[in-house]
Amino acid sequence: MKIGIDQMAFATTPYYIELSDLAAARGVDPNKFKIGIGQDRQAVVPPTQDMVTLGAAAAKKLPKNALRQVTTLITATESGIDNSKASGIYIKRLLKLNDYIRVVETKEACYSATAALQFARGLVALNPEETVLVIASDIARYGLKTPGEVTQGAGAVAMLVTKNPHVLAIESVSASYTKDIMDFWRPLFAAEAHVDGKYSNQVYVDFFLKTYQRYIQITGRTLADFAAIAFHLPYTKMGKKGLDGLLNNDQSPVAQRLRNNLTAEQQFSRQVGNLYTGSLYLGLISLLQNGDVQPRERIGLFSYGSGAEGEFYSGILQPGYQEYIDSHLQEELQNRQQVTIDQYEHLFNQQLGMSSADVEFDVSSDPSEYVLAGQKNAQRNYQIQD
Ligand code: HMG
Repeated sequence: MKIGIDQMAFATTPYYIELSDLAAARGVDPNKFKIGIGQDRQAVVPPTQDMVTLGAAAAKKLPKNALRQVTTLITATESGIDNSKASGIYIKRLLKLNDYIRVVETKEACYSATAALQFARGLVALNPEETVLVIASDIARYGLKTPGEVTQGAGAVAMLVTKNPHVLAIESVSASYTKDIMDFWRPLFAAEAHVDGKYSNQVYVDFFLKTYQRYIQITGRTLADFAAIAFHLPYTKMGKKGLDGLLNNDQSPVAQRLRNNLTAEQQFSRQVGNLYTGSLYLGLISLLQNGDVQPRERIGLFSYGSGAEGEFYSGILQPGYQEYIDSHLQEELQNRQQVTIDQYEHLFNQQLGMSSADVEFDVSSDPSEYVLAGQKNAQRNYQIQD
């Protein structure tokens, strides 16, 4: 039985900054951000948005009749809003899903959406009637005027995992690698990530090469068996560092196709930044919409989560996949509202973060359907807007 991703959708915040503006404000050459980091724009998060509202917005874009079939909801996040309660329970209410479902949250930095997908595959294998909704939702936050600032971002990807999937049938073989490493972490007291940036880049490439080689050893496959390799994209240049580590100076048609498809994968991420758990899967949507890939071809996927864990796995693209992935993304990204660096800094400082104070937010300026209206007695107040 084929099992895998049946449908995919993406949502981000209504606002963005141009990274050339950020470069000017920080006194940096704009080419460092555009070429050196590989980012053009960054999603800006108002206090009325968090990983719950973003996750609900992504899932709401899936067809209503598909959402009605959901039997399990797994949220994958590293910017969760509670150490106990699963964020998916709020999302389940906002989406008006059936009460007779199970809801749980997974965590291991950016990797946990891949863990959630693999667990979902297992559930469907045990019971082919299961429809699992996996929502990868995060706000990537490093702090104003930090080296990580240019690699911030926010958004969510929602995926349905079923038998006979319409988008990607996930293959059983995969290679995982885990080591206790301090490249990036966020202690319980911190609203911003702690990061050893240069070290994290090295560990990422090392884990990619280790998991790719192991996958190749197990399967006996070669580069020519892949139409594309999709990478976790904390910033788009990171995917290039990974692929360069594998291809070196290989100028063969196979290598050139992988390079061109990486450019297609990077297209949407360039405009929003890091989504942490969702980054690889926004990359996959971007690849499927903008790349040179055909039904029945194999796509490799490299998932990385700091701390650190990597997994290389693969899937076979399904005929007609185009109809089951979010189709108006370029237009939606174009329609976001640009804000100035002053406005971005103001919104950044207004976010709830670790605050336990009672607060009410003005939701009238946020055009999103799902909003965080404030907090009272340490309980978040989520609302649905018309
Ligand atoms: P930095 O120190 O500001 O930048 O930090 P840099 O000096 O290393 O420069 C970056 C690149 O720009 C370099 O290219 C420069 O040469 C180039 P590279 O050597 O990397 O190829 N450059 C220019 N290019 C063109 N024109 C110019 C110019 N000037 C310089 N004028 C860093 C960069 C990414 C380290 C920082 O932003 C950071 O710490 N970010 C956060 C950490 C991160 O994203 N790590 C990625 C791997 S870990 C991961 O993926 C997991 C993660 O998603 C979290 C999770 O799992 O939960 C982060």
